[in-house]
Amino acid sequence: MGRMKRRNFIKGAGALGAVASSGLLAAPAILTTTRMSYAQNGEIPVGLLFSLTGEVAVVESTLHDAALLAIEEINAAGGIHGMQLRTFIEDPASDPATFADRARRLMVRDQCVSVFGSYTSASRQAVLPVVEGQNNLYWYPTLYEGRECSRNVMYGGAVPNQQQQDFVPWLVENYGGRFYLIGNDYVYPREENNVARMLLDQLGGEAVHEEYVPLGHSEFSSVINRIRQMQPDVIFCTLVGDSDVAFQRQYHAAGLDPDAMPVASLTRSEVEVAAIGGDAAAGHYSSAPYFMGHQSPENERFVEAYLSRWGGDQVTHFVSEAAYFQVYQFKAAVERLDPADITPENIRDAAVGLTTRAPQGEILIDENLHTHLWPKIARWRSDGQADVVVESEERIAPEPYWAYPGQRCTGEGLVTD
Ligand code: ACM
Repeated sequence: MGRMKRRNFIKGAGALGAVASSGLLAAPAILTTTRMSYAQNGEIPVGLLFSLTGEVAVVESTLHDAALLAIEEINAAGGIHGMQLRTFIEDPASDPATFADRARRLMVRDQCVSVFGSYTSASRQAVLPVVEGQNNLYWYPTLYEGRECSRNVMYGGAVPNQQQQDFVPWLVENYGGRFYLIGNDYVYPREENNVARMLLDQLGGEAVHEEYVPLGHSEFSSVINRIRQMQPDVIFCTLVGDSDVAFQRQYHAAGLDPDAMPVASLTRSEVEVAAIGGDAAAGHYSSAPYFMGHQSPENERFVEAYLSRWGGDQVTHFVSEAAYFQVYQFKAAVERLDPADITPENIRDAAVGLTTRAPQGEILIDENLHTHLWPKIARWRSDGQADVVVESEERIAPEPYWAYPGQRCTGEGLVTD
């Protein structure tokens, strides 16, 4: 298994050193706000806002399951400060406008002190004005494109420097630099592809074609014909949910060979692979900070608890891992507070600098509210699990503006140098 040294491809993107030496691990300053504690009648109200229906439910329903499992575990172990977490559940049905509406309901009507939610960046962006307007806290577990720096969002997933920094050079070195970029048509794939293009440019590669299909799109014959004609070295894939599943099935059915033209995905995990079918996914690649087969005592416990709660045929994956560990980060932050001071703002301030032993390893909440993670590159096997072929030697700090020198997300918000 390869171990990867860090490279810094982007001139001027030197935020990492500054962040690492800025007293991250110091005890957080915990301010007492004028708002009364959100804990009421011996309960702490929290919201779950994950789609249980619609085109991204294939992955998002598993985030719901992972977060709910953590809540149930915490309650079974006595809660936080002796109080139970009271869970309010909404199904926004994969629709961004419904996300915004239900987020408001959870924060205003149900008085949740935090809401855990969203897979797509489109839904996170729809919630953003609501959570900022309410000065509440949104725990977002998903990999995303960066270029955001809200003080009301706890970002648990990888940003481009934690997913692409090793992946793109490794693909170029092993398969070649002619990439075909295919994604769904919204902010996340477009931004990730901007980063991929920039890296390819620096490495002497090129994007031979870039195209987008609507969310939920499932008919890929013309895309596959174009790929067959163009013969790229790599299919760089940011399709999500049902689209990713349909594309990979049709790619396999068309007889395209992963050894000659692998699909390299930033989103595909064990849960999409289970829906695709192991044979159709085998030989292709994903970049992620967690795979289900990761060996650690924390992961053994997580996998066992998840399968025993939701069924032995289920899988864990890098986004459900984050949905799970974020509830424990929330718990650790609330434990740092006096029960009279449990407000979203105080939880956020208490969370900065927290380290947690997550299934993937020890992770850390940065002052920019993103998470330090352990990047890996893995090749899918036909049994639906993945072989890690490269893993980072060190935990990698999140740099949400990595591709945008001159801008940094800090503890004070976005700074432009
Ligand atoms: C994503 O939309 N952040 C996968």
